[in-house]
Parts: sequence; structure tokens; C-alpha cells
Amino acid sequence: MIKDLWYKNAVVYCLSVGTYMDANGDGVGDFSGLMRRLDYINGLGVSAIWLMPFQASPGRDNGYDISDYYSVNPAYGTLGDFVEFTHAAKQRGIRVLIDLVVNHTSNEHAWFKEARRDPKSKYRDWYVWSKKKPANADKGMVFPGVQKSTWTHDPVAKEYYFHRFYDFQPDLNTSNPEVQAEILRIMGFWIQLGVSGFRMDAVPFVISTKGAEVNKPREQYGMLRDFREFLQWRVGDSMILAEANVLPNTDMQYFGDDGDRMHMMFNFQVNQNLFYALAAADTKPLVKAMEKTKPRPPSGQWGMFLRNHDELDLGRLTEKQRKKVFAAFGPNKEDQLYDRGIRRRLAPMLGGDRRRIELAYSLMFTLPGTPVLRYGDELGMGDDLSLPERECCRTPMQWSTEPHGGFTKSDKPVMPVIDRGPYGYEHVNAAFQRRDPNSMLNWIERIIRMRKEVPEVGWGDFEVIKAGNDAVLALRYDWRNNSVLFLHNFAGEPIEVEFKTGLGDERDDKLVDLLGDAHSNAQTNGKHCVCLEAYGYRWYRVGGLDYLLNRSDV
Ligand code: BGC
Repeated sequence: MIKDLWYKNAVVYCLSVGTYMDANGDGVGDFSGLMRRLDYINGLGVSAIWLMPFQASPGRDNGYDISDYYSVNPAYGTLGDFVEFTHAAKQRGIRVLIDLVVNHTSNEHAWFKEARRDPKSKYRDWYVWSKKKPANADKGMVFPGVQKSTWTHDPVAKEYYFHRFYDFQPDLNTSNPEVQAEILRIMGFWIQLGVSGFRMDAVPFVISTKGAEVNKPREQYGMLRDFREFLQWRVGDSMILAEANVLPNTDMQYFGDDGDRMHMMFNFQVNQNLFYALAAADTKPLVKAMEKTKPRPPSGQWGMFLRNHDELDLGRLTEKQRKKVFAAFGPNKEDQLYDRGIRRRLAPMLGGDRRRIELAYSLMFTLPGTPVLRYGDELGMGDDLSLPERECCRTPMQWSTEPHGGFTKSDKPVMPVIDRGPYGYEHVNAAFQRRDPNSMLNWIERIIRMRKEVPEVGWGDFEVIKAGNDAVLALRYDWRNNSVLFLHNFAGEPIEVEFKTGLGDERDDKLVDLLGDAHSNAQTNGKHCVCLEAYGYRWYRVGGLDYLLNRSDV
């Protein structure tokens, strides 16, 4: 049954175990703490949790430098705790996705240690070496400024090794069949322990050809099919969500024309243009990005997000657009990163303006794909710009007004909890917001509930409706004879729009407001006329709720 493709119409909540909840009081979040918070997560109504890397790691890149793929970082608990956690999540109907970081290992991984030490070791060829410093060693850095080179000399091996990211993250030679087999083994291990799939890190680099002699790296897309097939054979309904910030004309290479490669991809194109729309009250480039990324196989899906644990990358915008976004959301040097991005959390970027934050989330939940939410954003948490680089938006979850926001009983939290200013834990915390019916938290819960009642967004096709004003995005989704329509006003002033729903039958006459009482009947000219408040949004069912009762999908 097509409906078994659960990820097509799901809501994902992403978190880092180490900064979520500390149960044993050592200052570091752990699986026991996370387990105690599962009912909170369940209350949000999400379908899946995506765990950022939690395996053994020296922790020099937030865990994206793994030193043992088959382990749990002892600071977070044991493999036993992990299995308890996946079981407890399953009992609540929540799936678990985990990060799969296999483009590189930590330089402290036993494979790399062995590879450096012994040129005859089989692990030597698990990495990418060069006797001389390659001519392009100062090209292709992911973290320009912080990272000096992509090739570093290793005094033990007496050769240079390739690293797309930091120098402590040597790239695996993913063209080596043994490495490929090991990647499958890692997937097989975690799938057996109860996860439903993977967020695959840095996919374009994983499948790229690598080496000193490689001037024009080539993507080996066939590898993606191997990953998928293996996974699907092991557990039929598991999936891979690819982190691949690539140009739209290669998207289908990642999904596969027959839908035989990645199940999901993050939609970076839409993400960047969405922030431009928020900054400039101009939806034209966003519409273009949506149209460009419209093609996807029936079983494929986009992951839609606002912010994540990295910087907001604006590299795909034009110079002019990027300037506008910087001016609006990250004007100071300390807000910016690598000259191309903004390192802030969503709420402070939007000046804490609840209307704009709701607009942004309402949009994310109604864009064509599966929304991916980040822990703390449901409270409107802020950032700590005194922390270096991307760390500033990775502070611990703010649970209550207890010391350190209730995150830990220790006096030495792994990361400082935000404790001053308007985003300090005394003002922004889950306990307060739980009690306040108008809080951000309760708003997010309501919007997730409603998102689940409009599966047309996950399953259907969208149509951009002409509403006569570029500051307003009007979208209609159709699926199995049901339609929903969404309006979003990106401008800071009220706008009246006139539009036709465009279905061309009697359903056109009536729009039922799903979030309030502002229903709309068409005028005699067949058009609807709606006045949207500044940053206002509407969710409508087209044709009235009777149509919902006739749904054929239940
Ligand atoms: C992750 C980053 C990480 C990098 C290296 C990414 O794309 O999102 O947080 O630094 O991969 O693993």
C-alpha cells in the first residue's frame, strides 16, 4: 500500500542527546533523560525523532567525528539504554532516525590509527592518501576560514590525507568495496536495534570520487541505490533522508528516476529562498525554487526545514538577495559565518516577533514535503553568540525555571544554558509554556495536529494560485478529490487578496478556515476576497468539511 510510505506525510523532531536532558546529573544529556522526556515529545504529536550523532566521538564537531560506529558515547549511556529508548519510542508510535556519518571518521578511529601506522594494513586504503601535497589542496573547503586545507600532512604515515571537512575528520575512501560493505554493516547494525532509517550526512561527498589525481570529482550515484536496496531488504519500511545541498537539476539523480535511490532529501533550495521571502516580502524566487524542485518520484519526499544545527547557508541566493537576508536577519559580523551564512536560531533572527515566527512555521508545515522541526524551536529558544561558530545555536533545552533551565542538576552543564536576556530560561521554558494556552509550544502542538489533518500536503500535488500580490503566497494542494488552500502574507502590513481557487467546480465557492472562524464564500464573480493581517496566514479546506467526510484515504 502506498500509505505505508510513512515518511511521505510525517513530522520529524530533531535533537541532540547531549543537550536535551541530563538524568544522572553529570552535566551531559543522556538516553535516560531523553526517555523521561518522551511523553513531552509525544505530546507535540511528531511521528519521528531524528537523533544527531551519539556514538563514541572525541566531540570536536558536535559528534560528527565518530570514533566507533557500533557504540554509544559513554557520556550518553549504553547500547542497552539506546535499545530501551527505541523501544519506548515505538510504544508511543514514534519512529527513530539517526545520523549516518560515513563520509569521514574521527582521526581517533581505530581504522585511521591503523591506516597511519602501517602502510600494509588493509585500513590504509580505507582513507585517501597522497605522497605529495596535491595542487588543489587549498580548494573545496567546507569551512573556509576555519579550515586551511583539504589535505593535511600526517607525520606518522608521512603522507598527506584528504579531508573535505576539518583536519580531524579524514575522508573514508568510499570507492573501496570494503568501505562500502562496512557502511552497509553499520546500517544493518542500527536497523537491527530498532531505528527506522538514517539522516545521511554529506551525501554528495560520500558518493564522490576522491584522490590527489581527481580534478573533477564525479558522483557515483549507483552507490545510493546499493544503500537503499540493502536497507529495504533488511527492513521494508526504513528510509534514508539525504543531506545533499545540490542544484535542483541533479535532484533526480539523488532520488533516482524510478525512485530507487534516496527516499528523502532536505530541500535547501526552498529553505534559502524562503528566508529571502521572509526578508524581502517577495515570494517570486520562493515560487521558482518550489517549481524547480517539484519533480520527485511518487515514493520520494522533501524534508522541509527552517533552521538546523548548522548555519543558515545562503550560498544559492544571488548576491543581491543574500545582502537583503543578511541585512534583515544577520546584519552584524558576529551573526554571520563563512561569509555565506547566518548562525542564529529562528526566533532571534525574526526579532522575537511572534507573528513572523508563526508565519515561518505555518509556511514550513504547508510546503510540499515532510516538516523537520528542531528541539527548542517549539519554545522559540534563542542563541548564545558568545559561543564559537555553529555552537551558538546548540545550547541545552530549556525545561523550567530551575537552575540551568532544568536541563541538569550539575553545576557544569556540557554547554551553557541561556540564562540572560529575553531568551533566558527564566522567560523561555517548557514548563511555563505548557501552562499558557497561547504559548508558542501550544501553538506548535495545534499546528502539528492540523498538519496531520491535511495529508494533501504530504501526498498531493501543489499549484501556485495567482493572488495578485508578490508578498502573498497562495498554494492549493489536491489529493484524491480533496483540496486544501493556504495563504501566507510575508509583508508587515495587511493585504487584501482576490483569487480563484481554480478547481473549476462547485467546491470553489466555499473555503472553510481550519485554524479559526474566518470562512470564506466566493463573491458573485467566483473569486474569494480575503484580508490578511500583517504576516497573516490562513489554512482552508476547499468545498467545506463535508468533503473531508467523503475522503477515500481512511
Ligand atoms: C553536518 C555538520 C558537520 C558536517 C561534517 C554536516 O553536513 O550537518 O554539522 O559539521 O556534516 O560531518
